[in-house]
Amino acid sequence: MCGIVGYIGNEDTKEILLKGLEKLEYRGYDSAGIAVRSEDMNVFKVKGRIANLREAVDESVHATTGIGHTRWATHGEPSETNAHPHQSSTGRFTLVHNGVIENFEELKRDYLEGVNFASETDTEVIVQLIEKFALESGNTLEAFRKTVSLLHGSYALAVLDSENPDEIFVAKNKSPLLVGLGEDFNVVASDSMAMLQVTDQFVELMDEEVVIVKQDNVELQKLDGTTVEREPFTAEIDASDIEKGTYPHFMLKEIDEQPFVMRNIIQEYQDENDDIKLDEDIRKAMSECDRVYIIAAGTSYHAGLIGKEFLEKIAEVPTEVHVASEFSYNFPLLSEKPLFVFISQSGETADLRSVLVETNKLGHPALTLTNVPGSTLSREATYTMHLHAGPEIAVASTKAYTAQMAVLAILAVDTARAKGLTLDFDPMKELGIVSSAMESLCDQKEVFEQIARDYLSTTRNCFFIGRGLDYFVGLEGALKLKEISYIQAEGFAGGELKHGTIALIEDGTPVIALATQEHVNSSIRSNVQEVVTRGANDCIISLEGLDREGDAFVIPNVHSLLTPLVSVLPLQLISYYAALHRDCDVDKPRNLAKSVTVE
Ligand code: F6R
Repeated sequence: MCGIVGYIGNEDTKEILLKGLEKLEYRGYDSAGIAVRSEDMNVFKVKGRIANLREAVDESVHATTGIGHTRWATHGEPSETNAHPHQSSTGRFTLVHNGVIENFEELKRDYLEGVNFASETDTEVIVQLIEKFALESGNTLEAFRKTVSLLHGSYALAVLDSENPDEIFVAKNKSPLLVGLGEDFNVVASDSMAMLQVTDQFVELMDEEVVIVKQDNVELQKLDGTTVEREPFTAEIDASDIEKGTYPHFMLKEIDEQPFVMRNIIQEYQDENDDIKLDEDIRKAMSECDRVYIIAAGTSYHAGLIGKEFLEKIAEVPTEVHVASEFSYNFPLLSEKPLFVFISQSGETADLRSVLVETNKLGHPALTLTNVPGSTLSREATYTMHLHAGPEIAVASTKAYTAQMAVLAILAVDTARAKGLTLDFDPMKELGIVSSAMESLCDQKEVFEQIARDYLSTTRNCFFIGRGLDYFVGLEGALKLKEISYIQAEGFAGGELKHGTIALIEDGTPVIALATQEHVNSSIRSNVQEVVTRGANDCIISLEGLDREGDAFVIPNVHSLLTPLVSVLPLQLISYYAALHRDCDVDKPRNLAKSVTVE
């Protein structure tokens, strides 16, 4: 969602800010802006892409201090006016903000009567409050602290004061924010990726701190003014991981990276004796719990559905899977010793965090599975398991999804072994086979491009059906297709279609069916017949050994429980090509954000 960058140093700040914002584009946004300070404050804002912002920026302005922002609209439509940075009435203060201020209307009413607001945003209240308090106290830092202490909600803030040109004022609550350190310069970023171009040394900021960032110094303080010392950390992201290289899109690159991710996971979770390498405390928590509650959203929820099968079938641990946004307002009756497992690629999803806040209050242990170990959900949970998928930039999740399933399989096997269950399943060996199968699919992209052309070029809708594990993969296939190609797509349990939805099948309606599960192979094929009889254009993707004449594609044989890790690749690739054929912005689909930091 929204992104923040800031720079104070000797270089031309415009270019550093714009490049930083480009690195944050993948998170999803609808408008962008920068403010750079030369003699005066220069603010440039646009609706739309950073490319438009580049055009709008006055090249002749030379400035060495500035802040920038990408906005994903919450309060107020996407527009140039509502884009950040926002300025106070006199223009003295300029601010960018990530998050949502829940009490902005009360603050407006209680403190800002008579002030004219230029935008419809919750954000503008913050900059107006800073100006009001600065005029009253004559001290910007005090005004900033007072403002921050009045805010309810989530925020990451960076503020420029025209009368204190050598400082950027920074604070955060719930939303991530980092300060990056350099020689003769310092930077601010909501994600280290934005500033890897200039530094890999970052200091993590905590809630209820304010930070004064100068060219040669960074001062962290608590809200009461006491100084905080914190060591920087090295961002361990290879800058090339966040470049497309020769690929036309990040999504295609990330689909192709999946065999490598599997091998990476094997390496990271295997010790020198070929046993599973897992934190003893996680092992203990898994053995002691009487029920696992998986909490997730979107694609990660779909991985959770498969995870339930692993945990119940391999480890015999009763497991429930819940959509985070529903769970947070509707806690079910919990078991006596629950363990909460939060699955989140980004580790920042607000819907999950609000559940975690509650489960922490209740004192229940929580394990986060995430691709970003320093993320909020990782920090605030009791334990973390890293997905080791490498940065995922395309908004549509691919490699993080298969990594989530692989890590869940390892967790299930480890739990089963800890419980002394007899298993005929070596997860590392099986994941190795999965990796090779994935490689062979990635080498046959032309088949999936043709399927996308034949079935999806002109259609308005599409159905995915499957039974058992295939049903869950179908849900993910449908989500992938709709989010990037905007084709109305739905996933269904094969047997369920005839209970209503079959009414939508007409001549030529594409139905993509998965047939990778032996015990339901005949039934899913009967379900395909039911729709074909009514005119559907069927496309069956089956598993070697279960295939029949006429199947559109046969995936190589892998362990029956791990088929979802492989059978999803054709669906990812078909979605990718369908979106491409329809001229959609594959990596940055409309209205979507990579990291959904609002509820
Ligand atoms: C779809 C997609 C989303 C995310 C969802 C949860 O491709 O990426 O559905 O899975 O927004 O995000 P995380 O996993 O970051 O919590």
